[in-house]
Amino acid sequence: MATTTPPVGSSAKPTVRELYDSMSYGPAPEGDTPVREWIARHDGTFGHYIGGQWVAGSDHFDVLEPATGKALARVAQGTAADVDAAVAAARAALPAWQALDDHARARWLYALARGIQKHARHFAVLETLDNGKPIRETRDIDIPLVARHFYHHAGWAQLLSSEFPGHHAYGVVGQVIPWNFPLLMLAWKVAPALAAGNTVVLKPAEYTPLTAIRFAELVHEIGLPAGVFNLVSGDGATGAAIVAHEDVDKIAFTGSTEVGRAIRVATAGTGKGLSLELGGKSPFIVFEDADLDSVVEGVVDAIWFNQGQVCCAGSRLLVQEGVAERLHAKLRERMERLRVGSPLDKSVDMGAIVAPVQLDRIRALCQQGIDEGATCWQPSWATPTEGWFHPPTLFTDVAPSASIAQVEIFGPVLVSMTFRTPEEAVALANNTPFGLAASVWSENINLALDIAPKLKSGVVWINSSNLFDAAAGFGGYRESGFGREGGREGMWEYLKPIKAHEAAPLPVIAAGATSLTEAPAGEASPGLPAIDRTPKLFIGGKQARPDSGYSLAVRSLSGRTVGEVGEGNRKDIRNAVEAANAAGAWAKLSGHQRAQILYYLAENLSARADEFAQRIVAMTGDPLAAGASEVDAAISRLFTYAAWADKHDGAVHDVPLRGVALAMHEPIGVVGVACPDPYPLLGFVSLVAPLMATGNRTVVIPSERFPLAATDFYSVLETSDVPAGVVNIVTGARDPLVRTLADHDDVGAVWYYGSQAGAAAVEKASAANLKRTWTEWTGREWLDPRAAEGREFLRRAVQVKNIWIPYGE
Ligand code: NAI
Repeated sequence: MATTTPPVGSSAKPTVRELYDSMSYGPAPEGDTPVREWIARHDGTFGHYIGGQWVAGSDHFDVLEPATGKALARVAQGTAADVDAAVAAARAALPAWQALDDHARARWLYALARGIQKHARHFAVLETLDNGKPIRETRDIDIPLVARHFYHHAGWAQLLSSEFPGHHAYGVVGQVIPWNFPLLMLAWKVAPALAAGNTVVLKPAEYTPLTAIRFAELVHEIGLPAGVFNLVSGDGATGAAIVAHEDVDKIAFTGSTEVGRAIRVATAGTGKGLSLELGGKSPFIVFEDADLDSVVEGVVDAIWFNQGQVCCAGSRLLVQEGVAERLHAKLRERMERLRVGSPLDKSVDMGAIVAPVQLDRIRALCQQGIDEGATCWQPSWATPTEGWFHPPTLFTDVAPSASIAQVEIFGPVLVSMTFRTPEEAVALANNTPFGLAASVWSENINLALDIAPKLKSGVVWINSSNLFDAAAGFGGYRESGFGREGGREGMWEYLKPIKAHEAAPLPVIAAGATSLTEAPAGEASPGLPAIDRTPKLFIGGKQARPDSGYSLAVRSLSGRTVGEVGEGNRKDIRNAVEAANAAGAWAKLSGHQRAQILYYLAENLSARADEFAQRIVAMTGDPLAAGASEVDAAISRLFTYAAWADKHDGAVHDVPLRGVALAMHEPIGVVGVACPDPYPLLGFVSLVAPLMATGNRTVVIPSERFPLAATDFYSVLETSDVPAGVVNIVTGARDPLVRTLADHDDVGAVWYYGSQAGAAAVEKASAANLKRTWTEWTGREWLDPRAAEGREFLRRAVQVKNIWIPYGE
């Protein structure tokens, strides 16, 4: 690095100007002796923490220090038997942990928070040694946030019964975490899980297990009941064993999108809860009226914080054309002055990359960028030769389709592209399968707040970057995963509704092909055939003939043919998705406007209540009163969601910042729905209405056995001002049709009510674009509003976007 500091021993003192120009100062290393002594006290070797005891483990592997490349410790490689033991311990601890009252659990979380604070410097130094990130970050960001997370969740534990009534913990939760924020990711996972009353089996990343091990010691020191927290160290194989374990009720994972997909497939059809926080390629959007000097500091924070090994790193700089050159020049100047070196030095900006394999990956991607024609710029100074360091890097002249603009590099590499108009900025920003975070920089608050909702990402920072807090949810859209961590929205990931009223599923009777021997039911005049009114499909607001040209007979429970419906196929589903996609204006209507349409649907259904009741009775063979009460319940349900349409508010989170974090509820987009067989009208309405109320468009496969209530509903939709494409209905064989929805990239979520095998197929297929799924194969008591309507449905119908808006001069 350029320096104007006089040589050591020179009597001439530098002037203040010279000091500012050089920004050169001597090394300021943080002492690491107490931490190295702690490692030495364990002979440098660590085992698992299972059922309140340390278990040596059989095989061990080296954990290396990224800043030197030398071995730091040896850690046990968890086997299937270790995972079995840890899950058994967590299961055994569950009843007593759940029997505690809210206050008791709050006291344990509080004790963990205090313990972390008391040993904060130890944790910070250990994290820096193990991960290679600067002490400035572990000391001032990671560890304070860890303590804050446990305090915040001690609060949720205290408030659990009052704030989450009707819900209970999943049970035993398996948690697999990455190496980029080792202790912070532990806190994000363990604190809400314990606060909600779960017990935990956690696997830290193989590169960075040491702070988790020190945390297990803390757990032991404070005397947390044995088995409530268990730690099994190891690599991906150990993680996979936790994921596959039959006695684990929920998996929470943070890491690569590739492994996230594998976990989605591995848990498909098991009924395990799942939350995934995956990769990103987050845009950092700079409009020409932005304060460019602040932008430069924002970029430093966005992409050189933690050496860019941050899932939400602002790795794609999108700059308005007019200021691009000026900003690039300022950035290069700033980069020249960044300090890369020993992470224990309190004055370095960037430390080491976690492992050689990551460094190789970063280098290979940079080379690919150069090969593809982008311009690479790095500062003139050299990085240390010992350890694994990579200089801050800026790519310009990058095509939006270039690999470095699309692939998550997970290193200190910024790729810059330009745009002309706000529309172009949004299009470029969203031009990735990910959707984790985004930064928007403009002095025009109207512009910034107009852009934020248009970005497909779970977090948006206005004129800021990488802000995190325990009170605000964090998590992605699309291939960045699903589920939120932090705040009230994060607590839901560790709770499920108490199902007091599980109804048995109906016996399976397959819908048959058109029967040649049975005449369809109809009111034929003597001697004349009935006038056929076989319903078609309902796509884009119109009745459409099925592509197959086939019809299916609809039989009553007693086997009598009561009508026919079109046999939809893959092409019909694709047409329906296209129509739903084109109906995006629905999301932009106000809640009040959507409520009006839902009320109108109720009004028109009510006008034809008798006809619908008779249709239900003809299919199900139920007494007329049952059909009538199903129709009444459907009308009431439409009222419920008309009521909710303008009331399912987001929140303003109280984050420690001069500003606010707005938790907005956004629709998912196009949602595929496979309806249950029981209550063919009410089931349909119960699923479609909450999705409509929250601004989603739907492609619905009605009850396979009793589809005629849904097809009769076409004309109710047509007469109730529902815009074309908001509700599309394709009748036919449920599982093959829903499979096409689960495979489709333009479908954001699938709700499936059917068989366990069908649910497994949906969840497996959903891994391709990591769409959200909600599957059930046990019956629901659809007539009971406590079981079949309300917040649970609404929560599933939206994703939370947290928009951080700092204010003040
Ligand atoms: P990874 O996804 O393989 O590792 C994350 C965690 O998952 C580790 O604890 C690992 O042992 C575990 N794991 C690996 N395979 C597993 C399996 N089949 N089942 C269950 N658990 C499994 O990430 P890796 O290989 O360390 O990094 C590769 C790339 O992933 C990075 O370059 C980066 O692009 C991305 N990444 C993203 C992170 C994020 O926070 N979004 C964190 C870490 C990596």
